[in-house]
Amino acid sequence: MNKFGGNWTYQKIKIIEDYAKAYLEIMKNRPYWKLLYFDGFAGSGEIRIDGPLDSKVIEGAAKKIVAIKEPKMFDLCYFVEFDKQKARNLQASLHQIRKAGVVVVEDDCNRKLQDMAAFLKSKKGKNHKVLAFIDPCGMEVDWESIACLEGLPIDMWLLVPTGIGVNRLLKKDHQISEAWWAKLEAFYGLSRQMLDHDFYDHTRVQTLFGEEVVVQKRSKAILTIESTYMKRLNQVFKYVSKPYVLRNKNKSIMFHFVLASNNQVAVSIANDIISKINT
Ligand SMILES: C[S@@+](CC[C@H](N)C(=O)[O-])C[C@H]1O[C@@H](n2cnc3c(N)ncnc32)[C@H](O)[C@@H]1O
Repeated sequence: MNKFGGNWTYQKIKIIEDYAKAYLEIMKNRPYWKLLYFDGFAGSGEIRIDGPLDSKVIEGAAKKIVAIKEPKMFDLCYFVEFDKQKARNLQASLHQIRKAGVVVVEDDCNRKLQDMAAFLKSKKGKNHKVLAFIDPCGMEVDWESIACLEGLPIDMWLLVPTGIGVNRLLKKDHQISEAWWAKLEAFYGLSRQMLDHDFYDHTRVQTLFGEEVVVQKRSKAILTIESTYMKRLNQVFKYVSKPYVLRNKNKSIMFHFVLASNNQVAVSIANDIISKINT
């Protein structure tokens, strides 16, 4: 079972469920398209939410999506989960709801995003449209796995670990290990020099011993962390929604949750759903 906390777990699942229903409402009049739901970080089917006094178990997004019958069903629901036991549990519980057209694979989301891109570009995949839900715990999604989706008919909800991932690696004192720089480069698909330039101020100062360069993390770095990623997404998808911002108990930003699509209507629908939650 996955363990998470907070109201935002409900909201995130509600967003993907509401969007899926709106998507299927539009697509029900377009029977030519085969509809694929792709969940890259599917979980075990259930989520335990720990509160201050007790904890409760709620259904994960996968069960909600597979249970949708009206306005129509997805032709294929494809779930990727890295953890063997969670994948088994998920498959067992999803197959109680629906068996045909529900596939759970135990694999890495990055590899399966590449496979999906290749499928959509193939002759077989030409009449498919995809709603994707990419819900990692941290910085597991490599930029290459997003970049390969360019030009494809995918609406992708993506949880971007701006606060919980990137901001934690960008140390205030600039003491970032080689492994962390490599992680940041793989995540953004940008060179260390470009990231350093975006996130740190390098100031020349005169000291007793001559000129020195003082390096400081930019104030409000979280804003740049977000905008740099959103600019990257906009290079792959024509439109990116405004974000639903997930914060912890202390109001610090943990994630930004957005829809990326090549369809303007898709992003308007996403913005409407997010506005209702943000008010
Ligand atoms: C945030 S949880 C997903 C929760 C799920 N969306 C739900 O609604 O129940 C992330 C899941 O991704 C899995 N995971 C971690 N790295 C992965 C990877 N590279 N590829 C696929 N799954 C991964 C974890 O085992 C975990 O179950």
